[in-house]
Amino acid sequence: MTTPRQRYRRGRLAAAFGGLAAATLAVTLAVPAAAAASTLQAAAAESGRYFGTAIAASRLNDGTYTTIANREFNMITAENEMKMDAMQPSRGQFNWSSGDRIVNWARQNGKQVRGHALAWHSQQPGWMQNMSGSQLRTAMLDHVTQVASYYRGKIYAWDVVNEAFADGSSGARRDSNLQRTGNDWIEAAFRAARAADPGAKLCYNDYNTDNWQHAKTQAVYNMVKDFKARGVPIDCVGFQAHFNSGNPVPSNYHTTLQNFADLGVDVQITELDIEGSGSSQAQQYQGVVQACLSVARCTGITVWGVRDTDSWRASGTPLLFDGSGNKKAAYTSVLNQLNQGGTPVPNPGNPTQPGTTPTPTPTQNPGTGSCTATYSEGQKWNDRFNGTVTIRANTAISGWSSTVTVRQPQRIIATWNGSPTWDSSGNVMTMRPSGSGALAAGQTVSFGFTVQHNGDWTWPTLTCSAS
Ligand code: G3I
Repeated sequence: MTTPRQRYRRGRLAAAFGGLAAATLAVTLAVPAAAAASTLQAAAAESGRYFGTAIAASRLNDGTYTTIANREFNMITAENEMKMDAMQPSRGQFNWSSGDRIVNWARQNGKQVRGHALAWHSQQPGWMQNMSGSQLRTAMLDHVTQVASYYRGKIYAWDVVNEAFADGSSGARRDSNLQRTGNDWIEAAFRAARAADPGAKLCYNDYNTDNWQHAKTQAVYNMVKDFKARGVPIDCVGFQAHFNSGNPVPSNYHTTLQNFADLGVDVQITELDIEGSGSSQAQQYQGVVQACLSVARCTGITVWGVRDTDSWRASGTPLLFDGSGNKKAAYTSVLNQLNQGGTPVPNPGNPTQPGTTPTPTPTQNPGTGSCTATYSEGQKWNDRFNGTVTIRANTAISGWSSTVTVRQPQRIIATWNGSPTWDSSGNVMTMRPSGSGALAAGQTVSFGFTVQHNGDWTWPTLTCSAS
C-alpha cells in the first residue's frame, strides 16, 4: 500500500531522476523521501498548502505564544487589528499601528498574510455605523481602496467582504447598512480592492457555509457563480469553519469545497476552531484537514488562534494547543493527516515544461568550516516555488547557520524548520536551527522556504557556517 503522498513523492523523484545530472541525483537523495514533517506548516507545504493562525497584536510579547506561532504557522491573519474600526477609527484618519505590528512580525519571520477584513457589517467604526445611502457607499469604497493600497504587495489574500448572507433558510443577503446601499455593494467592493492591490487574491468569507445542503451555502455559491460569469474579480472563497456540538463538521464538507472550487476559485479554510476535547475533537479536526487535502484548489487552512486560552471562545477549548502551549490530541491528528499528503495544489503554467524557463544550475557550496549546504527543488507554481536546503555536517559541529540569497525581484515569502533573520535588503536570509544545531559527522538536517519569483526562476545561492 502506498499513500497518496508517497506516490506523489515518487513521481517527483522520478521526474528529478529523469531530468537532472548524476551530481544532482545525489543531492535529491539527500532529502529523506519518507520523512514525516514535524510542524504544521512544513507538513502542509508538502502538498503546496499553507497552514496559518490568527494572531493578536497584544500577545506578540508573549514568548510562548510567538515561539509556537513562528514554529508551526506560515500564514498570519490579524484577529481584529485590520478590521474597519481598527483601521479607520475616525473618518479619514487611519491607524495602521496594530495592523503593521502583525504584518511586520509575519514578514520578518518569513510568513505570508491574509488580510481580514475590508468590508463587513460588524466592527464598523461609530462614524460609519451612522451612515447610509450613497454617503456610506462612498465611505466603504474609500476604506477598501485606502487599506488595500496601504498594504499593497504585502497581502496574499484579502477577505474583501465578510459575512454578507443571512443565517437560516432564506438564502437572502443579511440586512445591514451596507446591504441597504444596494445589492451591488459586494461586487463594487471587489472591484475597488482589485484596483488597489492587483496582486492579492480577493476572497468572499463567511460562516455556516460548510454544509452543501444549507440555503446559506447555496446562496453564496450562486453569488460566486454569478460573479465568475460576469467577470467580477473574485479569486477565492473563505470558509470560516467555527464548529461545535450544535454545528458539527458536516459529512458533505468535501462536496462543498469541491463544488466551490469547480466554479474556478480557490477555497481556503479561514478561521477553523472546533469546540470539544480529546479524540472526538481530534477526529473532527482530521476530517476538516482531509476534506481540504482532497480538493486541489483548497490552498490552505488557518486556525483561529494559537492556544485555547487565546481563543474568542476559550471555554470551548477549540484550538490545537492547550493554555500552557502543549500540543493537544487535535494537533497530532492534524499533523498526521497533513503528513498523509493530499491532492497537490495545481500548477497552471508549470515552469518546468521544456522551453518555458531557463534551466537552473544546481548550487552546492563547498562548506565554510565544516558543514555543506545543498539545494534541492520542491513544488513549483506559476508564481512561486519551494526549495529545500540540506545542511550536512562534515565533522561533528555544535551549531550552524546558512545564508540563502535570492535575486531581486524574487522574495522569500515563507520558511519552515528553522529560525530565519533577514538583511536590510530582504534578499539575504540567514537560517539558524530552531533548537540545538548540534550534528554528528555526516548527519544532515533540512529547512525549507517558498520563493515568490516574480518571473525570475534562478535558484538561490547558499553558504553554510559551522560552529
Ligand atoms: O481590546 C478590548 C479591550 O481593551 C476591552 O477592555 C474589551 C472589553 O470588551 O474589549 C476588547 O476588544 C475585544 C476584542 O475582541 C479583543 O479581545 C472586543 O470587545 C471583542 O468584540 C472582539 O471580539 C472579536 C470578534 O471577532 C469581534 O467581532 C474576537 O476577538 C474575534 O476572534 C472575532 O473574530 C471573528 C472574525 O473576525 C469573523 N468571523 C467570526 C470570528 C469570531 O467571532
